[in-house]
Amino acid sequence: MGQHQGKAIFLTGASTGIGRATALRLAEEGASLVLADIAKDKLEKTTKECQSLGSETISIECDVSNEMQISEAISGMAKQFGEIHAVINIAGIQLWSHSHEHSLTDFERTLAVNLTGTFLVCREAIPYLLKTSGSIVNVSSTTALAGIPYSVAYAASKAGVLALTKSLAVEYGGKGLQVNCINPGGIKTEMTKMPQIEDPDLKLLLRQSPLHKFSEPENVAGLISYLITDEAQHINGESIRIDGGALA
Ligand SMILES: NC(=O)c1ccc[n+]([C@@H]2O[C@H](COP(=O)([O-])OP(=O)(O)OC[C@H]3O[C@@H](n4cnc5c(N)ncnc54)[C@H](O)[C@@H]3O)[C@@H](O)[C@H]2O)c1
Repeated sequence: MGQHQGKAIFLTGASTGIGRATALRLAEEGASLVLADIAKDKLEKTTKECQSLGSETISIECDVSNEMQISEAISGMAKQFGEIHAVINIAGIQLWSHSHEHSLTDFERTLAVNLTGTFLVCREAIPYLLKTSGSIVNVSSTTALAGIPYSVAYAASKAGVLALTKSLAVEYGGKGLQVNCINPGGIKTEMTKMPQIEDPDLKLLLRQSPLHKFSEPENVAGLISYLITDEAQHINGESIRIDGGALA
């Protein structure tokens, strides 16, 4: 029997990269899943892969920055599964630009998806998670901990996710809810392809590179899976780097 057998888990950003790998890992470990993402076709693919591993998995095409869509997705999940045991906020975007040229539209969109989206999912799910003494894992980034060039909105949004995580942990920890975040860096996904910007300073860009090599999304999935086990229950309000020693 898988270690997440009997749990119902809501996961955003499941279409590709870390989100897809986490969905597959949790499906393998017996969880029932609701997968949310805007990329419809890839979301369907991940959903089918999870189902073929024996998991009761459904998908919801939604934008995490849309309050109404998130509210409906979470209440719909509660109706369908009866309970929610964990929520994992993985959806994110990174829009590159020299900071003095960064458009306000891109800045606000980045905050809306990465930070507001995480907040909305947490807010809607907390009433259900309090009933199950459940847990939340948010995906921040090493960019919340050390500066990165050409990605100012992204870094600010991920620092916001870190602060939000600690605040929720303090506010709800005494009521049995566990809230943690992880700070990945150097994971091989679409997001870590070289940014298409004019005259990037490569030395600055590679400042947060892993000491040895880039890692696979599956390794991040393993950490997320651990954080929602009973064994990890005493870890609360923590942020864990998974970056190959980049910021050690
Ligand atoms: N790859 C890395 O090295 C790294 C490092 C630090 C943090 N992260 C974080 O990990 C998370 C996953 O990123 P990834 O590397 O797997 O990249 P990715 O681009 O493969 O995954 C991002 C996912 O989020 C989804 N998404 C984007 N906007 C959305 C929205 N508005 N609503 C719903 N879904 C949306 C995308 O469709 C995609 O499935 C992100 O939050 C990212 O910031 C990644």
